[in-house]
Amino acid sequence: MANTTNEALLSWVDEWAQVLRPAAIHWCDGTEEEYDTLCSDLVESGTLISLNEELRPGSFLARSDPADVARVEDRTFVCPENRSDAGNNNNWREPAEMRAHMMDLYGGSMEGRTMYVVPFSMGPLGSPIAHIGVQLTDSAYVAASMRIMTRMGQGALDVLADGDWVPCVHSLGAPLAEGEPDVPWPCNAENKYIVHFPETREIWSFGSGYGGNALLGKKCFALRIASTMARDEGWLAEHMLIVKVTSPDGQVDYVAGAFPSACGKTNMAMMVPTLPGWKIETVGDDIAWMKFGDDGRLYAINPEAGFFGVAPGTGEDTNPNALLSLNKDSVFTNVAMTDDGDVWWEGLSDEPPAHLIDWHGNNWTPDSETPASHPNARFTAAAGQCPSIAPEWEDPAGVPISAIMFGGRRATTVPLVAEAFDWEHGVFLGSVMSSEKTAAAMGAIGQVRRDPFAMLPFCGYDFGAYFEHWLAMADHDGADLPKMFYVNWFRKDENGKFMWPGFGDNTRVLKWILERVAGGGDSIETPIGHVPTRDGIDVSGLDLDDKTLAQILAVDTDEWATEVELIREHYAGIGDSLPQRLVGQLDALAERLSG
Ligand code: GTP
Ligand code: SPV
Ligand code: MN
Repeated sequence: MANTTNEALLSWVDEWAQVLRPAAIHWCDGTEEEYDTLCSDLVESGTLISLNEELRPGSFLARSDPADVARVEDRTFVCPENRSDAGNNNNWREPAEMRAHMMDLYGGSMEGRTMYVVPFSMGPLGSPIAHIGVQLTDSAYVAASMRIMTRMGQGALDVLADGDWVPCVHSLGAPLAEGEPDVPWPCNAENKYIVHFPETREIWSFGSGYGGNALLGKKCFALRIASTMARDEGWLAEHMLIVKVTSPDGQVDYVAGAFPSACGKTNMAMMVPTLPGWKIETVGDDIAWMKFGDDGRLYAINPEAGFFGVAPGTGEDTNPNALLSLNKDSVFTNVAMTDDGDVWWEGLSDEPPAHLIDWHGNNWTPDSETPASHPNARFTAAAGQCPSIAPEWEDPAGVPISAIMFGGRRATTVPLVAEAFDWEHGVFLGSVMSSEKTAAAMGAIGQVRRDPFAMLPFCGYDFGAYFEHWLAMADHDGADLPKMFYVNWFRKDENGKFMWPGFGDNTRVLKWILERVAGGGDSIETPIGHVPTRDGIDVSGLDLDDKTLAQILAVDTDEWATEVELIREHYAGIGDSLPQRLVGQLDALAERLSG
């Protein structure tokens, strides 16, 4: 039962219950017993399959509806009163109209189901950087996942006390009539809506039970709503990993990195360094909230408590720490199942097993024509289970950031790493970020799109104003800001092969970045920033010839002249709110290229 005296919360739950008309209401306390009950109910209803208790204790497999496998960007809306506040980067509808339409959908949409009231904290309980949300959901899978992904339950209610919370409403849109049998993955695939009302800080989600569409603390709250809070309050809510880097002589730095979805944040956050003597520890793998400390530095927390990571491509040789995080108490969605009741996905081992049940629930052999796991199959596991987790990952004060990386997947043009000339130039580089599309969102894969700050699907307001907010961070009294870098692990040769080994070898890039932060590091000035000389990158022990390294580091004037034209188109798309200083940066780049 409700264990709160927060009258506003109690009446909010009451009012929604009248609209949604659930058969029962359950207030989540976040205990282990509750989690176990949720999971056993889900096993009974067929949503979860228990994995082999010896091989994968406390773990489950879920197979989603094939029509509900990733974020749906075309069904995601940001609805402030004025269209211009949403920017050209968001879908917008008149909020009153959107509310009316969704109220129709929500009417009775939880019939025959239990409504879970899920209180949660984004950030360590009670941290001055943290915020409380409460999600209503008719999905037990979502409630269970929220316990892994956030600090969920009575603790969050206690911190909330009589205060304000971000209200999050989520319904699968699949009411059950009396006696109607349930399906394993209820959803309403034709009618998905992921809606944000930034002025009232509300989130309304309908129709999907998958990932960022449904675990509303993640992209909806910690990025779209939090980015608007951050703009109003002078901080940053970003799609960034956070790593702790310790050099062989004991120097500790924290580095943040914004890479678009499925472009390597989780991998970098958990990376095993290949350079001897270096140590990498994980603070966060997807989201960073950064606020100024008294010393003028930016301090970052990871607002999440778990990982919702891409499974395919995660293997012993690429990300052993992720695998070790998944040894127990994990939920896997849309991966394949082995004959002995364990999980498998492409990249877990070189040789696929001779027989699997694929993510559709069908027989699969290596001769099958489709992948055994969905390309956006995910694992859900508590961050505390990661062997590389940094002791300070729950420090309510956050960690001071020395450098920020921006990066994406680019087969051509973009060198391994370039350092921005200064903050304004760094904001420019962030604002022109681009990447080839991945399976993390619905749509054509491989196509290059501009994804400023890796926030295209996640910025809760107009990009022009967002860029201005980034520029304005430099005006903070006594600001001592991180250095900014643009990275690309994904450059390919003529045969379409990645030239840079990536993964643990990205330590070599981090080493150069931190040398630059400390005032060293061999570099040459190019039109796009300071790029390492061939000797600047430590390639000791790597099988990488000079010619390839030169190709990886190359800044080709012709390619960049084409890029400038593409950036002009991208900037034109932002509209009138684009800061003039960034246009100035683009003109200066064009000038340097022609000079
Ligand atoms: P989201 O959770 O969607 O935000 O993704 P993410 O940015 O955390 O991406 P993740 O680390 O899960 O990486 C996704 C894919 O990129 C995996 O298939 C990885 O194998 C691949 N990848 C990650 N790092 C590297 C790298 O350094 N080089 C190459 N070639 N591939 C990489
Ligand atoms: C992403 O797409 O960036 C993710 C997965 O991290 S989801 O939570 O579904 O947004
Ligand atoms: Mn992400």
